[in-house]
Amino acid sequence: MRAQRPKEVYVFPTDAFASSVLEGLGSEPKRLESRYFYDDRGDALFREITGLPEYYLTACEREILSCQPEAMLADYEAGTPLDVVELGAGDGTKSRHLLEAAMRKGFDLRYVPIDISAAALDHLSDHMRARLPGLEVAPSRGDYLTSLHELHEKSSRPELLLFLGSNIGNYPDDEALALLASLAREMADEDMMLVGFDLRKDPWTIHRAYNDSAGLTREFNLNLLERINRELGGDFDLDAFDHYEPYDPVAGVASSFLVSLAQQTVAIDSLDREFEFEPFELIHTEISRKYSPGEIDHLAGQSGLSIVRTLHDRREYFADVLMRKQLPNP
Ligand code: AVI
Repeated sequence: MRAQRPKEVYVFPTDAFASSVLEGLGSEPKRLESRYFYDDRGDALFREITGLPEYYLTACEREILSCQPEAMLADYEAGTPLDVVELGAGDGTKSRHLLEAAMRKGFDLRYVPIDISAAALDHLSDHMRARLPGLEVAPSRGDYLTSLHELHEKSSRPELLLFLGSNIGNYPDDEALALLASLAREMADEDMMLVGFDLRKDPWTIHRAYNDSAGLTREFNLNLLERINRELGGDFDLDAFDHYEPYDPVAGVASSFLVSLAQQTVAIDSLDREFEFEPFELIHTEISRKYSPGEIDHLAGQSGLSIVRTLHDRREYFADVLMRKQLPNP
């Protein structure tokens, strides 16, 4: 049985970017939300980052999903209906292996990618239809919980939720817990969720993943300022800001900053505001959390989920963890 969802209204206003920038640059310390990295240019840059040798995360997860896809399907009965619901439309190259395996096993399969970006969904849906002819693709645009809830109002097919790519790592601990707990409440007893976690490892390996020699992560970070210039009429001078992303191995968090290289005033027309920057003042833009196995256990347990099985790449850099909701003791 699916639990009733509390009556909350999730809205994503069209001027959300403007209000987020106004709030973030008006705060002390300054910040910008990482979700706004992903306009067309940001999507393209992120796709390039995932192909970089230093950015091991994507290759590790692809290795897991291409070598062990059966392990994620072992608890579903072949030949029965199955919705594979992907939270956040990636480029599909990882989930494709799983879908291929499910098609081979003869599931009555439907693929439901959920994302806030229509362009990302179109791109992914085209990719999947071209690569896997015959696959039913039913994209859903919106935030994860609202879209999932709408799906559950229309259908009660068993589900495998995919929350891949270490996307969970971009949430602060309290928000990661709240999100997984909300997803657990949306799940039916027989549903499962596969969550991709980047693991703690040699700090230099992590440092290099966010400070690549081609400078793509730098461009990706600075694109936030370019996006403000493009969409909100800002006059950020991109040469007057730098990318800085240290990894703190104690906290297990890589934190991304933009550094003002001079005293400067930046005007943003559509906000009708000017923002002052001191030399070396920081704008915080993203966290990328790395987990130990114990931290994953703790997060799952606190969210009302239990771990069914954990799959690793051969270097044990990354873990895809299959979870189901905790059932009350009989
Ligand atoms: C999407 N997310 C999991 C990436 C990460 O590793 O935190 C975003 C990213 N930021 C810089 N490089 C990649």
